[in-house]
Amino acid sequence: MYIKENFTFSGTLDMKIIEELTDILESALDEIQGVVSLKDLTDLRVKYLGRKSRIIAILKGLGSLPKELRPEAGSASNEIKQKIEEALKHRSEELSVDIFKELGTTERIDITEPGISGERGSLHPITQLGMELEDIFMSMGFSIATGPEVELDYYNFEALNIPQDHPARDIQDTFWTVDGTLLRTHTSCVQVRTMEKQKPPIRVVAPGRVFRYEETDASHEHTFYQVEGLMVDRDISVANLIAVMRTMLREVFRKDVKVRLRPGYFPFVEPGFELDISCHLCDGKGCSVCKWSGWEELIGCGLVHPNVLSMCGIDPAEYSGFAFGMGLDRLVMMRYGIDDIRLFHSGNLKFLRQF
Ligand code: PHE
Repeated sequence: MYIKENFTFSGTLDMKIIEELTDILESALDEIQGVVSLKDLTDLRVKYLGRKSRIIAILKGLGSLPKELRPEAGSASNEIKQKIEEALKHRSEELSVDIFKELGTTERIDITEPGISGERGSLHPITQLGMELEDIFMSMGFSIATGPEVELDYYNFEALNIPQDHPARDIQDTFWTVDGTLLRTHTSCVQVRTMEKQKPPIRVVAPGRVFRYEETDASHEHTFYQVEGLMVDRDISVANLIAVMRTMLREVFRKDVKVRLRPGYFPFVEPGFELDISCHLCDGKGCSVCKWSGWEELIGCGLVHPNVLSMCGIDPAEYSGFAFGMGLDRLVMMRYGIDDIRLFHSGNLKFLRQF
């Protein structure tokens, strides 16, 4: 509450002005303290400090006072005016606080203040490209298949023509669980799961996370992503495989990409190939990511091995198919010029915000 102070004048001033000023101050302070709304307070401001107020009349009339009285009368009037200002301001603050109390909040809201824009998350670049690839393959008539990340030996190895004693089962590469299941080392398990359920014609892609028991470095992670593809029908050949790969790469990089096909060994395809693309980071000149070869290994592929078809109940004499498994992380790295695969799982926001 505003403390009403006594206002004292030195003796030289005219009694009439003193009385007038004291009266103005007292009634102003009384009235100001008495109002309960900001609207009424505004009216009081007009009454006590407005153009037609008594104090302004006194200030205007100062000129007609004897010269020696003018300075003191002037400063006394200004002082009264200032005290009224202060009282108005103080009461206005009190009333504002009361309004907030009524609203049950002490928060003051300035509706003219610019808003705080909320932070939005974004899709991880691997998710983005994964979704894009799904669209690309769907436009070629493929559908999307999935499989579990914790897999049975049968789907990860056995049914893919990798029996128990096969050297391709390098025990070092696989994370085994205590109950004998494993973390799938590739998405090729989904080929088998698909062919078990579905008979030709088959056209599926299966994007997914895979795991290898490996040391990590700039180009190796223990957890990474692959996109598996499978097409089985009558008369499927390597030409179909190459055409689909070319179309997909053209869509991803939005230009024709230089590719090369090398023989590659995977027990579940025959013939098997490694499909390389010319390194996008160095444009084929050689850099640390492509290990100075100018080429980047991207896709393992080939024609589905007859043993695999038979194990899934598809007659290899009638049907043939191609399969491929593509490193999704690598593809993202090539597309954006990322030189360290470990960034993907680093949780580094500076890195992620760029996508
Ligand atoms: N599964 C293989 C890998 O992870 C890739 C592959 C898939 C090869 C399909 C041939 C056919 O390396």
